[in-house]
Amino acid sequence: MTIDYSEKIPNNVGLADNRTLQRALEHWQPEFQSWWADMGPEGSTNFDVYLRTATSVDPKGWAHFDYVKMPDYRWGIFLAPAEAERKVNFGAHKGEAAWQDVPGEYRSNLRRLIVTQGDTEPASVEQQRHLGLTAPSLYDLRNLFQVNVEEGRHLWAMVYLLHAYFGRDGREEAEALLQRRSGDADNPRILGAFNEKTPDWLSFFMFTYFTDRDGKYQLASLAESGFDPLARTCRFMLTEEAHHMFVGESGVGRVIQRTCEAMNQLRTDDPAKLRAAGVIDLPTIQRYLNFHFSVTMDLFGADVSSNAATFYTTGLKGRFDEAKLGDDHLLAGATYPVLEVRDGRLVTVEAPALNALNEKLRDDYIKDAAAGVERWNRIIDKAGIPFRLRVPHKAFHRKIGPLSAANIDPEGNVVDAATWARHEREWLPSAEDRAFVASLMGRVAEPGRFANWIAPPARGINNQPVDFAYVRFG
Ligand SMILES: [Fe+2]
Ligand SMILES: [Fe+2]
Repeated sequence: MTIDYSEKIPNNVGLADNRTLQRALEHWQPEFQSWWADMGPEGSTNFDVYLRTATSVDPKGWAHFDYVKMPDYRWGIFLAPAEAERKVNFGAHKGEAAWQDVPGEYRSNLRRLIVTQGDTEPASVEQQRHLGLTAPSLYDLRNLFQVNVEEGRHLWAMVYLLHAYFGRDGREEAEALLQRRSGDADNPRILGAFNEKTPDWLSFFMFTYFTDRDGKYQLASLAESGFDPLARTCRFMLTEEAHHMFVGESGVGRVIQRTCEAMNQLRTDDPAKLRAAGVIDLPTIQRYLNFHFSVTMDLFGADVSSNAATFYTTGLKGRFDEAKLGDDHLLAGATYPVLEVRDGRLVTVEAPALNALNEKLRDDYIKDAAAGVERWNRIIDKAGIPFRLRVPHKAFHRKIGPLSAANIDPEGNVVDAATWARHEREWLPSAEDRAFVASLMGRVAEPGRFANWIAPPARGINNQPVDFAYVRFG
C-alpha cells in the first residue's frame, strides 16, 4: 500500500486508471490551493516546516519527516487496505457484502454524512489560521502546522469520496466545501463548534484535546460503515487524528505543569498573583475546559434523533467499536438511558436505543475524554497541589437538543436564570479571562525557548531534540 508520489495527486487508489476522476480532482486541486493561500496559516508561505508526510498506509513506518513549505505539502488520497470479504456489520443489511458503490436509496444520507464530516476539516484550519503568529515555541508552531496540513488532507479524503461516488452533486458539494467559511454570517460552516473562534493557544490545545476527539469518535463510527470506501478512508484518517489529540493533551498538560511550578515557587494559589507572574491559574484552565467540553458535547447532535436511527439501520454509520459489541447489532426493542428535564431537575428516561445512538456515542466519548483529564490531575497531584480538574456534567451549557432549554450547572443541577447569571463567571471563561490569556500570547521563535506560561515538552518530534529548529523562517 505504498503511495505513489510521482503522480500530481499522490494516491493509493489507482487514480491514473480513472481518467475522468483524475481530471475532476486535478480541476479541484488548484481551487484547494487557492483556498489554502487565502485561509490557511497566516503569513507562513515561505516557512520551512519539519513535517511528516504519509508514505504508506501500513500502520508501521508510514511517515516521512522533512522540511516542507506548506503550500508544497503533498496532499493526497490514502485509503486503508481493503479487508477481504468485509461485510455490513449492523442494521437491516447485516451480513451482506459491504458496498463498493453507493446504494441508490441511501445516496443523499450518505452524501450528507460525508459533507458534514468534510466541512469540519477546512473549518478547523480557518479557526486556527492566526495562531502561528503567537506560537509559544518552534516545537508548538510545527505541531500546529502539522495538524493544519493533515486537516487539509482530511478534506481531500472526503472530496475524493464526493468526486468518485456522487457525480455532479458530489462535485458541487466539493466546491461548496471551499466556499463556506468558519464564523461567516452568510455562509458559515455546518456545525456550531466549527464557527467558534480559536483565539489563543489554550483554546487551541483544548480544541485539539476535546474537539479533535469528537472527530475520532465520528470517524470511528464512519469507519464501521457498510459503504466500504468511506470505512477505509476513515480508518486511515484515524491514524492522523491520534497526533492531533496528543498535541492537545500534552499542550494542556504543559500549561498545567508550568502553573503548578509557579504556584510552588510563589507559594500561592491566588489567581491574581499567578497572573501577575505570567501563568494561567488553574480555575481559568477549568473554565476553558468547561467551555470546550460543552461545545463539543453539542457536536454529537440531539440526544434522541430519528436521523441517527436511520443512519444505523441503513448501515451507513455504526457505533464506536461496533464489531466488538456483543449484542445483535440491530437494536430493535433495545433501550438506552437519556436525560430529560422534568419538574426542575434532570431525570433519566429510557429511549429506543436506535434513536439514542448520538447519546451512546457521546457517553463513549466522555469516558475517553475524562481519562485524559485524570492524567492532567496527576500532574497537579505530583506537584502536591490540592486542586482537581473535572469534566462538567454532560448536560451543562448545551445549545442543541432539549437540554438546551434549561440552565444546568457543571454538577448537573437545573438552576434558574438568576443563579446562572450569578455564577456564569465561575463556570465559563469571561471576557476578562480571555483578555488575560490573550495578553500572554506572543511568538517565541528561538529554538529551545518556550513562552513563560508553558513548560517544554518531555521530548521532541521524531526523536529530534526539544531545541531542534522545527520551523525555519524564510
Ligand atoms: Fe480531521
Ligand atoms: Fe483532527
